[in-house]
Amino acid sequence: MKVIKKVEEMQQWSESVRKRGETVGLVPTMGYFHEGHLSLMETAGQMCDHLVVSLFVNPAQFGENEDLDAYPVDLDRDYKLAEEKGASVVFAPPREEVYPERFQTSVALASLPRHLCGLDRPVHFGGVATVVTKLFNIVGPQVAVFGAKDFQQLQVIRQLVKDLNFNIRIVGNPIVREADGLAMSSRNVYLSTDERASALSLSRSLELAEGLIRDGGKDAAAIRAKVVELITGFDHTAIDYVAVCDPDTLEDVDSVTAPVLVALAVKVGTTRLIDNRVIDPAQ
Ligand code: PAJ
Repeated sequence: MKVIKKVEEMQQWSESVRKRGETVGLVPTMGYFHEGHLSLMETAGQMCDHLVVSLFVNPAQFGENEDLDAYPVDLDRDYKLAEEKGASVVFAPPREEVYPERFQTSVALASLPRHLCGLDRPVHFGGVATVVTKLFNIVGPQVAVFGAKDFQQLQVIRQLVKDLNFNIRIVGNPIVREADGLAMSSRNVYLSTDERASALSLSRSLELAEGLIRDGGKDAAAIRAKVVELITGFDHTAIDYVAVCDPDTLEDVDSVTAPVLVALAVKVGTTRLIDNRVIDPAQ
Protein backbone atom coordinates (compact mmCIF):
# COMPACT_ATOMS: atom_id res chain seq x y z
CA MET A 1 0.00 0.00 0.00
CA LYS A 2 1.27 3.47 -0.91
CA VAL A 3 0.84 6.53 1.29
CA ILE A 4 0.62 9.54 -1.03
CA LYS A 5 0.86 13.07 0.36
CA LYS A 6 1.12 15.15 -2.82
CA VAL A 7 -1.81 16.08 -5.07
CA GLU A 8 0.29 15.72 -8.22
CA GLU A 9 1.52 12.25 -7.28
CA MET A 10 -2.04 11.15 -6.54
CA GLN A 11 -3.21 12.44 -9.94
CA GLN A 12 -0.34 10.66 -11.70
CA TRP A 13 -1.10 7.38 -9.92
CA SER A 14 -4.80 7.62 -10.92
CA GLU A 15 -3.89 8.49 -14.48
CA SER A 16 -1.70 5.39 -14.83
CA VAL A 17 -4.40 3.17 -13.33
CA ARG A 18 -6.99 4.60 -15.73
CA LYS A 19 -4.66 4.04 -18.70
CA ARG A 20 -4.51 0.36 -17.79
CA GLY A 21 -8.31 0.28 -17.88
CA GLU A 22 -8.57 -0.40 -14.14
CA THR A 23 -11.18 1.17 -11.84
CA VAL A 24 -10.82 3.15 -8.62
CA GLY A 25 -13.18 3.24 -5.64
CA LEU A 26 -12.71 6.18 -3.27
CA VAL A 27 -13.59 6.35 0.43
CA PRO A 28 -13.18 9.93 1.71
CA THR A 29 -12.49 10.10 5.48
CA MET A 30 -11.07 12.28 8.22
CA GLY A 31 -9.32 9.27 9.77
CA TYR A 32 -9.38 7.70 13.24
CA PHE A 33 -11.00 4.66 11.73
CA HIS A 34 -13.74 2.54 13.25
CA GLU A 35 -15.90 -0.26 11.83
CA GLY A 36 -18.08 2.29 10.00
CA HIS A 37 -15.11 3.49 7.93
CA LEU A 38 -13.94 -0.08 7.39
CA SER A 39 -17.35 -1.14 6.03
CA LEU A 40 -17.11 1.61 3.38
CA MET A 41 -13.64 0.37 2.42
CA GLU A 42 -14.96 -3.15 2.02
CA THR A 43 -17.76 -1.97 -0.27
CA ALA A 44 -15.47 0.16 -2.43
CA GLY A 45 -12.84 -2.59 -2.58
CA GLN A 46 -15.40 -5.13 -3.77
CA MET A 47 -16.72 -2.82 -6.50
CA CYS A 48 -13.41 -1.68 -8.02
CA ASP A 49 -9.92 -2.88 -8.96
CA HIS A 50 -8.34 -0.38 -6.55
CA LEU A 51 -9.40 1.09 -3.22
CA VAL A 52 -8.17 4.61 -2.46
CA VAL A 53 -8.84 5.94 1.04
CA SER A 54 -8.39 9.67 1.55
CA LEU A 55 -7.54 10.85 5.04
CA PHE A 56 -7.77 14.58 5.57
CA VAL A 57 -9.20 16.52 8.52
CA ASN A 58 -10.78 19.27 6.45
CA PRO A 59 -10.59 22.65 8.25
CA ALA A 60 -13.13 24.21 5.86
CA GLN A 61 -15.99 22.11 7.28
CA PHE A 62 -15.40 23.03 10.94
CA GLY A 63 -16.95 26.16 12.45
CA GLU A 64 -15.01 28.48 14.73
CA ASN A 65 -16.04 26.87 18.02
CA GLU A 66 -15.91 23.30 16.79
CA ASP A 67 -13.40 20.53 17.48
CA LEU A 68 -10.92 20.92 14.58
CA ASP A 69 -7.87 21.14 16.86
CA ALA A 70 -9.08 18.35 19.15
CA TYR A 71 -10.09 15.98 16.32
CA PRO A 72 -8.53 12.57 17.15
CA VAL A 73 -5.61 11.39 14.99
CA ASP A 74 -3.80 8.03 14.82
CA LEU A 75 -2.17 7.83 11.41
CA ASP A 76 -0.10 4.66 11.94
CA ARG A 77 -3.12 2.69 13.12
CA ASP A 78 -5.21 4.07 10.23
CA TYR A 79 -2.58 3.13 7.62
CA LYS A 80 -2.44 -0.41 9.04
CA LEU A 81 -6.24 -0.80 9.00
CA ALA A 82 -6.56 0.54 5.44
CA GLU A 83 -3.83 -1.85 4.31
CA GLU A 84 -5.67 -4.75 5.95
CA LYS A 85 -8.78 -3.74 3.99
CA GLY A 86 -6.75 -4.02 0.78
CA ALA A 87 -6.26 -0.32 0.01
CA SER A 88 -3.87 0.40 -2.86
CA VAL A 89 -3.38 3.98 -1.66
CA VAL A 90 -4.02 6.14 1.37
CA PHE A 91 -4.08 9.75 0.19
CA ALA A 92 -3.17 11.85 3.24
CA PRO A 93 -2.22 15.35 2.09
CA PRO A 94 -1.09 18.11 4.44
CA ARG A 95 -3.39 21.14 4.69
CA GLU A 96 -1.31 23.34 2.39
CA GLU A 97 -1.54 20.75 -0.41
CA VAL A 98 -5.33 20.96 -0.35
CA TYR A 99 -5.65 24.66 0.44
CA PRO A 100 -2.55 26.43 -0.90
CA GLU A 101 -2.06 30.15 -0.46
CA ARG A 102 -4.66 32.26 -2.33
CA PHE A 103 -7.10 29.34 -2.53
CA GLN A 104 -10.47 31.04 -3.11
CA THR A 105 -13.04 28.76 -4.73
CA SER A 106 -15.88 27.04 -2.95
CA VAL A 107 -18.79 24.80 -3.89
CA ALA A 108 -22.13 25.79 -2.35
CA LEU A 109 -25.55 24.13 -2.51
CA ALA A 110 -28.64 26.30 -2.30
CA SER A 111 -31.20 24.34 -0.30
CA LEU A 112 -30.03 21.01 1.20
CA PRO A 113 -27.70 22.76 3.71
CA ARG A 114 -30.60 24.89 4.99
CA HIS A 115 -31.89 21.94 7.01
CA LEU A 116 -30.82 19.70 9.92
CA CYS A 117 -27.08 20.06 10.68
CA GLY A 118 -26.74 23.06 8.36
CA LEU A 119 -28.78 25.17 10.81
CA ASP A 120 -26.23 24.89 13.62
CA ARG A 121 -23.23 24.46 11.34
CA PRO A 122 -23.59 27.13 8.62
CA VAL A 123 -20.17 26.61 7.01
CA HIS A 124 -20.12 22.82 7.27
CA PHE A 125 -21.68 21.58 4.02
CA GLY A 126 -19.92 24.16 1.85
CA GLY A 127 -16.65 22.88 3.32
CA VAL A 128 -17.65 19.26 2.68
CA ALA A 129 -18.86 19.96 -0.89
CA THR A 130 -15.65 21.84 -1.71
CA VAL A 131 -13.24 19.23 -0.36
CA VAL A 132 -15.15 16.30 -1.86
CA THR A 133 -15.20 18.04 -5.26
CA LYS A 134 -11.43 18.46 -4.99
CA LEU A 135 -10.97 14.82 -3.95
CA PHE A 136 -13.06 13.67 -6.92
CA ASN A 137 -10.87 15.72 -9.26
CA ILE A 138 -7.63 14.58 -7.65
CA VAL A 139 -8.44 10.86 -7.37
CA GLY A 140 -10.77 10.49 -10.38
CA PRO A 141 -12.74 7.52 -9.00
CA GLN A 142 -15.50 5.61 -10.81
CA VAL A 143 -17.18 4.87 -7.46
CA ALA A 144 -17.21 6.76 -4.14
CA VAL A 145 -18.69 5.30 -0.96
CA PHE A 146 -20.22 7.32 1.91
CA GLY A 147 -22.04 6.35 5.10
CA ALA A 148 -25.74 6.89 5.81
CA LYS A 149 -24.66 7.92 9.32
CA ASP A 150 -24.14 11.37 7.77
CA PHE A 151 -27.39 11.21 5.81
CA GLN A 152 -27.49 14.89 4.91
CA GLN A 153 -23.88 14.75 3.72
CA LEU A 154 -24.73 11.78 1.50
CA GLN A 155 -27.63 13.73 -0.05
CA VAL A 156 -25.38 16.78 -0.54
CA ILE A 157 -22.82 14.61 -2.37
CA ARG A 158 -25.48 12.93 -4.53
CA GLN A 159 -26.83 16.36 -5.48
CA LEU A 160 -23.44 17.86 -6.28
CA VAL A 161 -22.49 14.87 -8.45
CA LYS A 162 -25.74 15.34 -10.37
CA ASP A 163 -25.50 19.13 -10.60
CA LEU A 164 -21.82 19.23 -11.61
CA ASN A 165 -22.03 16.18 -13.92
CA PHE A 166 -19.42 14.07 -12.20
CA ASN A 167 -19.32 10.64 -13.83
CA ILE A 168 -19.03 8.92 -10.44
CA ARG A 169 -21.34 6.35 -8.89
CA ILE A 170 -22.18 7.35 -5.32
CA VAL A 171 -22.87 4.43 -2.99
CA GLY A 172 -24.49 4.89 0.45
CA ASN A 173 -23.61 2.29 3.10
CA PRO A 174 -25.80 1.54 6.15
CA ILE A 175 -24.92 2.86 9.62
CA VAL A 176 -22.57 0.60 11.60
CA ARG A 177 -23.42 0.49 15.32
CA GLU A 178 -21.89 -0.69 18.58
CA ALA A 179 -23.55 -3.81 20.05
CA ASP A 180 -25.84 -1.62 22.22
CA GLY A 181 -26.99 0.53 19.30
CA LEU A 182 -24.75 3.62 19.50
CA ALA A 183 -23.78 4.68 15.98
CA MET A 184 -20.01 4.44 15.58
CA SER A 185 -18.24 7.78 15.36
CA SER A 186 -14.67 9.02 15.72
CA ARG A 187 -16.15 11.50 18.25
CA ASN A 188 -17.39 8.74 20.62
CA VAL A 189 -13.91 8.77 22.23
CA TYR A 190 -14.76 12.16 23.74
CA LEU A 191 -17.56 10.62 25.90
CA SER A 192 -17.10 9.97 29.64
CA THR A 193 -18.61 6.77 31.09
CA ASP A 194 -21.78 8.60 32.17
CA GLU A 195 -22.09 10.36 28.83
CA ARG A 196 -21.58 7.08 26.98
CA ALA A 197 -24.68 5.76 28.79
CA SER A 198 -26.68 8.86 27.84
CA ALA A 199 -25.51 8.60 24.21
CA LEU A 200 -27.79 5.58 23.91
CA SER A 201 -30.75 7.98 23.99
CA LEU A 202 -30.21 8.65 20.27
CA SER A 203 -30.61 5.10 18.96
CA ARG A 204 -33.30 4.34 21.55
CA SER A 205 -35.38 7.30 20.41
CA LEU A 206 -35.12 6.19 16.78
CA GLU A 207 -36.41 2.75 17.79
CA LEU A 208 -39.27 4.49 19.59
CA ALA A 209 -40.09 6.55 16.47
CA GLU A 210 -40.01 3.43 14.33
CA GLY A 211 -42.40 1.64 16.71
CA LEU A 212 -44.82 4.59 16.71
CA ILE A 213 -44.83 4.82 12.92
CA ARG A 214 -45.20 1.04 12.46
CA ASP A 215 -48.17 1.18 14.85
CA GLY A 216 -49.84 3.65 12.50
CA GLY A 217 -48.67 6.93 14.07
CA LYS A 218 -48.89 9.64 11.41
CA ASP A 219 -48.70 12.92 13.31
CA ALA A 220 -45.09 14.08 12.88
CA ALA A 221 -45.36 16.62 15.72
CA ALA A 222 -46.54 13.91 18.15
CA ILE A 223 -43.72 11.54 17.09
CA ARG A 224 -41.20 14.35 17.46
CA ALA A 225 -42.51 15.21 20.93
CA LYS A 226 -42.11 11.59 22.12
CA VAL A 227 -38.55 11.46 20.75
CA VAL A 228 -37.69 14.75 22.51
CA GLU A 229 -39.19 13.44 25.76
CA LEU A 230 -37.14 10.24 25.63
CA ILE A 231 -33.86 12.06 24.92
CA THR A 232 -34.32 14.77 27.54
CA GLY A 233 -35.05 12.03 30.09
CA PHE A 234 -31.34 11.11 29.94
CA ASP A 235 -28.70 13.13 31.86
CA HIS A 236 -26.17 15.35 30.05
CA THR A 237 -28.30 15.68 26.88
CA ALA A 238 -29.16 18.89 25.02
CA ILE A 239 -31.03 18.58 21.74
CA ASP A 240 -29.79 20.50 18.69
CA TYR A 241 -32.63 19.21 16.53
CA VAL A 242 -35.10 16.38 16.09
CA ALA A 243 -36.58 16.28 12.60
CA VAL A 244 -39.20 14.16 10.90
CA CYS A 245 -38.64 15.01 7.25
CA ASP A 246 -38.68 14.03 3.60
CA PRO A 247 -35.56 11.89 2.94
CA ASP A 248 -34.88 13.59 -0.42
CA THR A 249 -35.55 17.27 0.23
CA LEU A 250 -35.03 17.18 4.04
CA GLU A 251 -38.11 19.43 4.38
CA ASP A 252 -40.18 18.75 7.53
CA VAL A 253 -43.37 16.74 7.01
CA ASP A 254 -46.61 17.15 8.96
CA SER A 255 -47.96 13.69 8.33
CA VAL A 256 -46.15 10.38 7.83
CA THR A 257 -47.73 8.92 4.69
CA ALA A 258 -44.53 7.90 2.85
CA PRO A 259 -41.01 6.94 4.04
CA VAL A 260 -39.61 9.62 6.36
CA LEU A 261 -36.19 10.42 7.71
CA VAL A 262 -36.08 10.80 11.48
CA ALA A 263 -32.83 12.67 12.13
CA LEU A 264 -31.28 13.83 15.40
CA ALA A 265 -28.38 15.90 16.65
CA VAL A 266 -27.83 15.87 20.40
CA LYS A 267 -25.05 17.28 22.52
CA VAL A 268 -24.09 14.75 25.16
CA GLY A 269 -21.90 16.75 27.52
CA THR A 270 -19.89 18.78 25.01
CA THR A 271 -19.88 16.10 22.31
CA ARG A 272 -22.30 16.57 19.44
CA LEU A 273 -23.68 13.25 18.19
CA ILE A 274 -25.94 12.56 15.22
CA ASP A 275 -28.06 9.59 14.22
CA ASN A 276 -30.94 8.90 11.84
CA ARG A 277 -33.25 6.28 10.46
CA VAL A 278 -35.43 6.11 7.37
CA ILE A 279 -38.79 4.67 8.39
CA ASP A 280 -41.34 3.37 5.91
CA PRO A 281 -44.89 3.37 7.30
CA ALA A 282 -45.88 0.71 4.75
CA GLN A 283 -43.51 -1.90 6.16
P1 PAJ B 1 -15.65 11.02 8.54
O1 PAJ B 1 -16.46 11.57 9.65
O2 PAJ B 1 -14.29 10.49 8.82
O3 PAJ B 1 -16.51 9.90 7.86
C1 PAJ B 1 -16.02 9.26 6.69
C2 PAJ B 1 -17.15 8.40 6.13
O4 PAJ B 1 -17.48 7.39 7.09
C3 PAJ B 1 -18.43 9.20 5.86
O5 PAJ B 1 -18.99 8.79 4.62
C4 PAJ B 1 -19.31 8.80 7.02
O6 PAJ B 1 -20.71 8.87 6.75
C5 PAJ B 1 -18.88 7.36 7.24
N1 PAJ B 1 -19.25 6.88 8.58
C6 PAJ B 1 -18.94 7.46 9.78
N2 PAJ B 1 -19.50 6.76 10.79
C7 PAJ B 1 -20.17 5.73 10.23
C8 PAJ B 1 -20.96 4.65 10.75
N3 PAJ B 1 -21.15 4.49 12.04
N4 PAJ B 1 -21.50 3.77 9.86
C9 PAJ B 1 -21.31 3.93 8.51
N5 PAJ B 1 -20.57 4.92 7.97
C10 PAJ B 1 -20.01 5.80 8.81
O7 PAJ B 1 -17.64 12.39 6.77
C11 PAJ B 1 -16.49 12.79 6.77
O8 PAJ B 1 -15.46 12.16 7.41
C12 PAJ B 1 -16.09 14.07 6.04
O9 PAJ B 1 -17.16 14.97 6.06
C13 PAJ B 1 -15.62 13.83 4.57
C14 PAJ B 1 -16.73 13.20 3.71
C15 PAJ B 1 -14.37 12.93 4.56
C16 PAJ B 1 -15.24 15.18 3.93
O10 PAJ B 1 -14.25 15.82 4.64
